[in-house]
Amino acid sequence: MNKKINQEPVVIVLFGASGDLSARKVIPALYNLHIGGFLPEEYSIVGVARSELSDVLLRQRLHDGVNKFSRRGIAGEQEWASFAEHVHYIQADYDDPELYERLINIGDPAWEKPPNIIFYLATPPNLFTVVIEQLGKIPVLRGDLRYRIVIEKPFGHDLESARALNKDLLQVFEEQQIYRIDHYLGKETVQNILAFRFGNAIWEPLWNRNFIDHVQITVAEKIGIGQRGRYYDSAGALRDMIQNHLMQLLCLIAMEAPSAFTADEIRNKKVDVMNAIRLITKAEVPAYAVRGQYGQGSVDGKQVQSYREEKDVGKASNTETFAALKLFVDNWRWQGVPFYLRTGKCMPGRVSEISLQFRPVPHHPFSHLNTQVFQPNRLVIQIEPNEGVVLRTQAKEPGLGMQLKPVDMMYCYQDVFHQPSPDAYETLLVDIMRNDPSLFMRADQVEAAWTVIQPILDVWSETKELNFPNYQAGQWGPSEAENLVARDRKTWLLPISFEPKRGS
Ligand code: NDP
Ligand code: BG6
Repeated sequence: MNKKINQEPVVIVLFGASGDLSARKVIPALYNLHIGGFLPEEYSIVGVARSELSDVLLRQRLHDGVNKFSRRGIAGEQEWASFAEHVHYIQADYDDPELYERLINIGDPAWEKPPNIIFYLATPPNLFTVVIEQLGKIPVLRGDLRYRIVIEKPFGHDLESARALNKDLLQVFEEQQIYRIDHYLGKETVQNILAFRFGNAIWEPLWNRNFIDHVQITVAEKIGIGQRGRYYDSAGALRDMIQNHLMQLLCLIAMEAPSAFTADEIRNKKVDVMNAIRLITKAEVPAYAVRGQYGQGSVDGKQVQSYREEKDVGKASNTETFAALKLFVDNWRWQGVPFYLRTGKCMPGRVSEISLQFRPVPHHPFSHLNTQVFQPNRLVIQIEPNEGVVLRTQAKEPGLGMQLKPVDMMYCYQDVFHQPSPDAYETLLVDIMRNDPSLFMRADQVEAAWTVIQPILDVWSETKELNFPNYQAGQWGPSEAENLVARDRKTWLLPISFEPKRGS
């Protein structure tokens, strides 16, 4: 990580400090930043929640989280102790005005200057507004960049609620003080899309409708919904993954080159893409969107129960655990190029991949017999698990005669850079401290993303899917998803790490 550290004192107020996200993501990231020397010398983390805890008890709980979830594994005793002394706990109700009077004056009197205060909302979303309203009673907050607010996802439940949340937030804070998290944007390989596209001149002439036949974005997860049934059953894959993570990936692939690497310029270019996405009418939804829900099956050889049997899920739940969409970006660059997006739980593997499938050669000089395994060129950006880039081309197989076979030119992050990547949350937290919102969602971006999926949400909530469950856990989704692309004479591409090894 070569980001400059902001050495100003900082207090991170973590609402929801006793919860899952704090233990799993936020605190391990802060711990790793502490170990790496990326936090200022004068900082503290103040956890807030209702549970009866003390500094010591909270630290213990977070220590377990770090040991379990930190990318560095078990925390060293001294390292943990030097971090833990910065962690404090306040037990409070979020609607208690006294809490906020205390928070606004927080900081160590011995520090050189008053700290920047970051209010981090790692709470259930229905509590966001309660906290924002209370913060709104503190007149000094608005416009002062010393105070920032971080909002976890989901940002709204639909377009209307996202607009309302933006309105509440913007009454209390200015846009530059607001950090709406989409943790995908903090992933190294996601950031690398910008470097890959705009740091190399060779792609630009190919990166358009003249050369690209279609784009596929797959984000597949092996896991089901774990303990998050209550949240997930009211969300579903479209809200949970497509509205945010997959739409952001699409924007990074489809956006025009920014004229400068600044937060607003990058976000302007992304919002241009979203505004250019052709809106689907409700009547068109069945032709453009497919939903699925997993039934019993097996993943990695382990038996998996059906979604409807999961904890906190309705026995007749209509919630989708898989979603696939076809979208078009109506501008000069992308006119007529379909973007296929799919994501699902309980699929055969954990893999995030973006494939740009090039058009076939205009004329084939080779006979059919020479090209039994012919594939058009394909550029694959592997986000996870084998971070890297693969360019698939055709080559002559050694031997007598002319037989073509696909070969891959590739680089793998680990082999090239020989250093571990920071976790997405580490990157995002450093950016919040540096006051750089480039990797965060602006109000208009969030609303534009909801606008695109709103007709699908409407149709899916109005109509019960009678076929659910329609894919077995351990499959790549329902057969209807195959039809979505088959109608365009295409197939879903098997992620590269799932292809059978060639030549063996
Ligand atoms: P949890 O339910 O595990 O934690 C919620 C936290 O809020 C707890 O610390 C809880 O503490 C506190 N809280 C305070 N008041 C209430 C209340 N009235 N009802 C419920 N909880 C309350 O949630 P997560 O940590 O999983 O999620 C937090 C946020 O992060 C959510 O917005 C979620 O969507 C988002 N998120 C979570 C991810 C994850 O992997 N967990 C991934 C991505 C986003 P106490 O009971 O002590 O008050
Ligand atoms: C979260 C979703 O935003 O992203 C989860 O709420 C999902 O359902 C997770 O599992 C996936 O993130 P990652 O980083 O593991 O790909």
